[in-house]
Amino acid sequence: MAKDLLILGLESSCDETAAAVVAREADGSGRILSNVIRTQVDEHAAYGGVVPEIAARAHVEVLDGIVAAALTEAGVGFAYLDAVAATAGPGLIGGVIVGLMTAKAIALVAGIPVVAVNHLEGHALTARLTDGLDFPYLLLLVSGGHSQFVAVKGLGDYERLGTTIDDALGEAFDKTAKLLGLPSPGGPHVERLAASGRADRFDLPRPMLGKGSLDFSFSGLKTAVRHAAESVAPLTEADVADLAASFQAAVTDVVAAKAAVALDRFRETTGIARPVLVVAGGVAANKAIAAALAQATASRGARLIVPPLNLCTDNGAMIAWAGAERVAAGRLADRTIGDRFAAARARWPLDERIAPKIGSGRLGAKA
Ligand code: KG4
Ligand code: ZN
Repeated sequence: MAKDLLILGLESSCDETAAAVVAREADGSGRILSNVIRTQVDEHAAYGGVVPEIAARAHVEVLDGIVAAALTEAGVGFAYLDAVAATAGPGLIGGVIVGLMTAKAIALVAGIPVVAVNHLEGHALTARLTDGLDFPYLLLLVSGGHSQFVAVKGLGDYERLGTTIDDALGEAFDKTAKLLGLPSPGGPHVERLAASGRADRFDLPRPMLGKGSLDFSFSGLKTAVRHAAESVAPLTEADVADLAASFQAAVTDVVAAKAAVALDRFRETTGIARPVLVVAGGVAANKAIAAALAQATASRGARLIVPPLNLCTDNGAMIAWAGAERVAAGRLADRTIGDRFAAARARWPLDERIAPKIGSGRLGAKA
């Protein structure tokens, strides 16, 4: 399609309510006209994790206001839009239904198509919006619900190269934080304390290393942290910092080593001399992990792209952009009202050809 597109994108699959307006030019470049996000962190804080029922209700309460704010900020009304895109899964089903039904209502009123977007496709395509990246590239998605390497070969063509067989990396940070008595979500707190801790104080395992596998496993590490904590309890501030540092060092080693293996494999199969690794998901905010990934990619003669943090974590712009890519490619046949893929889904793997692994698309997990 040669024409410029204007797409509204809605995201409500976990604890962020978000709406954005994104333009896609005929040359394939993208522009974010607005990107409004409201996080529910305060609503869930007392429970130590996201409560699905509370999340769905909070989305219902604020989504129309967020949509209005996104349109106002972009300076457009429904009549200007070419399509409305919404996350249709995977995620907490109540929240997904809120966003998708809102999108369908807008689509019916405005007389435009609705695009049911796979949330993971939103993460996977973000670097094309921010950096104009061409296919193919390697994606490392590390969030509260997913930890996977994906070869992004084209629109709708994703090969999962490895995934977690139990906890996601963000989940491992969160559980470690809980164990250390830190607030939720715990990732940023673990990172902050790790900066003043001794990473060599506790000898923690580097799970799944040395097998050449691109799968992750973090639940054993979590248990090792618990045992280490019990061995020195009651914990002093220094103990907590040392445990955080030791945990972060262990996962950083694993992620960086696997990224190197993934890049080698990706280079072999694609023949691309200087492959690109894109990192997405909330854990991309972790400076120690990002630094180790920068080193791993540099040592492999590869390029690392970490999109701006507000586009790495859940947002409406990535959903609008995925919708824009699908509209531009004329790939709506299975994504509009009444079709199978337009239904809200708790589970929806990016790579539909392979069997799920336990924990890799966990019901109710954040994506
Ligand atoms: O992508 P995201 O905002 O939400 C989804 O999971 O979709 O990721 C949230 C996860 C949480 O588990 C959080 O603890 C983790 O990302 N996280 C971090 C950091 N910032 C957020 N983990 C480690 N270090 C950080 N600085
Ligand atoms: Zn996500």
